[in-house]
Parts: sequence; C-alpha cells; structure tokens
Amino acid sequence: MSAVDAGRTDGGSAPVRVGVVGFGYWGPNIVRNLDRLGDAEIVVACDLSEANLGKLAQLYPYVETTTDLDAMLADYDLDAVVVVTSAPSHYVIASKVIAAGKHCFVEKPLTLTTEDSEKLVRAADEAGVTLMVGHLMEYHSAINWIKEYIAGGDLGDVLYVYMQRLNLGKVRTEENAFWSLAPHDVSIVLYLLGEAPDYVSANGAAYVTPGVHDTVFANLHFPSGKMANIHVSWLDPHKVRKLTVVGTRKMLVFDDMQATEKIWIYDRGVGEPKKAMAYGEDLTLRFGDISVPWVPLKEPLAIEVQHFLDCCRDGQTPRSDGRDGLRVVRVLEAVDESMAAGGAPVTTSVEV
Ligand SMILES: NC(=O)c1ccc[n+]([C@@H]2O[C@H](COP(=O)([O-])OP(=O)(O)OC[C@H]3O[C@@H](n4cnc5c(N)ncnc54)[C@H](O)[C@@H]3O)[C@@H](O)[C@H]2O)c1
Repeated sequence: MSAVDAGRTDGGSAPVRVGVVGFGYWGPNIVRNLDRLGDAEIVVACDLSEANLGKLAQLYPYVETTTDLDAMLADYDLDAVVVVTSAPSHYVIASKVIAAGKHCFVEKPLTLTTEDSEKLVRAADEAGVTLMVGHLMEYHSAINWIKEYIAGGDLGDVLYVYMQRLNLGKVRTEENAFWSLAPHDVSIVLYLLGEAPDYVSANGAAYVTPGVHDTVFANLHFPSGKMANIHVSWLDPHKVRKLTVVGTRKMLVFDDMQATEKIWIYDRGVGEPKKAMAYGEDLTLRFGDISVPWVPLKEPLAIEVQHFLDCCRDGQTPRSDGRDGLRVVRVLEAVDESMAAGGAPVTTSVEV
C-alpha cells in the first residue's frame, strides 16, 4: 500500500492554512475531514449563502466566515483553498485562487469545458501552485487494491472494463446524467488502465427532461486496444455501483453497494485454443474458484484531503492533479459531442 493510500504524512510540520469556498451539501464533508485530520487550520470559509455560513459557524465557531471571495483571498494569510461550490463556478473561483498564489483543490468536475481546464492547468504551472481535483474514487481503498492487483498480473492482461452507475433519480435539470454521475467512473477507468482514451462514442436519451440526457451508454476506446463501457442512468429500478474488469486470466467485479465484500475475483476464462480444432470442437471454458479478498476500508475523503495537504506541503504532484481533471473533463465533453452527433466517434486528445 502506498503512503497516499494509507493516508500517511511525514507529520511534524505546521498545519496548512486553508480557506474553504462552498458549504452546501458536500462542503461539510470536506470541512469535517480537514478539521479532524489535525494537519490543517481552517482559517476562513466563504459562501454566497448566509444560511450555509450560519450552519458552519455553529459547528466550527473558530472559523471566520465571509461572502466575499476576493476579500478572503486578499485579507487572510492562506496556503491553500478548497473549492466545493457547484461546478459552473469552479473555473472562475479556481482562477482567482491560483492568481492569488494559493494551492487549489477543486471538487469534480474540474470545470465544465476542456478549454477552461487547460487554462487552469497552465495557470497553476505558471504560478507554481498545486492544483488537485476531487476524484474521490482514486482514493478508495478497494479501487487502490484493484489497481495493485492488476499491476501484479494475476488478472492477466486487461481486455475490457464496464461500469454501471444507476438508480431512480435524482433527476437533475442543470446537467445531464453523464456529467452528474460519470466523472467518478471516467476517473476510475483512466486510473486503473493508466492511459487516457483516444476516442469515445456515446448514445443517450432524455426521457424525462427535454435536452437533458438521463440515460447514457458511453464507449471509451484506448490506444492499447482496451475498451470501456460506462452506463449511467437516473431511470433504473435498482441502485447499482458496479465495475467489471475482464482479464485474459481472471475476471473481477467491484460492487460498491456491498458494505464489506466489495471485490469478487472469478478464476474464469477461455482456455488456450488447440492448434488445430476439429469440426464441432469448442474452445475450452475454464471455471475455477471465486475469491473475495479482505480489503480494509478507510474513508476515501480522509485519504484524499490528507493527500492534498501533503502535496501543498512538499510540492509532490497529486495523484488526481489538474491534468487528470482535464482528461476527465475532455471525456465528459466528448461524450456530449458524440451524443449530439448520433454516436459518432469523437477524439479525446488534450493539449497540456
Ligand atoms: N466527490 C463526491 O463524491 C461529491 C459528492 C457530492 C458533490 N460533489 C461536488 O461538490 C461540489 C459541490 O456540490 P454540492 O452538492 O455541495 O453543491 P451545493 O449546491 O449543495 O453547494 C454548493 C455551495 O456553494 C455555494 N456557492 C455557489 N457558488 C458560489 C460562489 N461563487 N462563491 C461562494 N459560494 C458559492 C452555494 O451557496 C452552496 O452553499 C460539486 O462540484 C459537486 O460535483 C462531490
């Protein structure tokens, strides 16, 4: 297990002085972890909503509050800022944070366009600050275990991956189901395969709200020939959070709806073809053991937040850095473009 996955720090340094922007639904989870880790000092929080700032003040009376982001960046001595506002505001807020010379954590998706993500990556490079995006699943103990298992070679070569993130609702109107649900899946698949796709093709439908796709099937093609399919939907009878990885030797299923037994490994596959197969002879199918490895689980958000603080302190590149955020945004955008073009392949290369 890497130091990142264990949530370890070298410790002993002064706390990172942090400002928080956004205390709606997800912000409280980030603040709880920042507060609990003891490695950060939450100096000030900014939100446009006085009501949400009031909730924060009740829980953390020692944190100052403001509705003015510019004043927060100018008046407080901060090392870093975490941006936990709704996605349309990410680009403007993160640009200001980087321009002020602060390390910046931005919740997923990094921005709403590839162009804006590229600008943030360049700006962070030029300012010499850390830019990290909240691709939470890259810090999930089970996903980290799967990554190491793939690298260990027991699965053989990965052939293809498919993922399902389905449930009934919550039907949103401001973003489609792919932008809402799939950033996690896209980041997982890029992380596990260690490569970015060269093109995507996708189909989807807007059954509930005209123009807002609630059901999407996206195919990602990778330069190595690997393939991934991501199916997301707000119109499904079951809540499903599943990943299947098919390798040349074994197959693996990650079911995030299970409380503890999340990973299942199937020693199954197709046997070596015989040199000369007679008429009517089939390829041999191999059915072996099914195993369920024990993977100790730690709150992914605690690992993610600690990793950001470590990167701020020692200058290491975050696992989910700005470029990772950019690659994911490009896939999300390309899926929209492909759906608009009736499923035509759309390239996903990025500039920086
Ligand atoms: N990693 C995860 O699993 C996960 C889960 C949920 C949400 N998120 C992400 O977290 C972010 C926030 O989502 P949410 O569900 O908490 O949204 P939300 O709408 O509940 O909260 C957003 C908060 O930001 C504030 N805000 C908006 N614009 C602002 C601005 N310009 N300046 C200051 N404050 C501003 C709002 O007043 C609100 O309090 C999104 O990027 C979302 O994708 C991540």
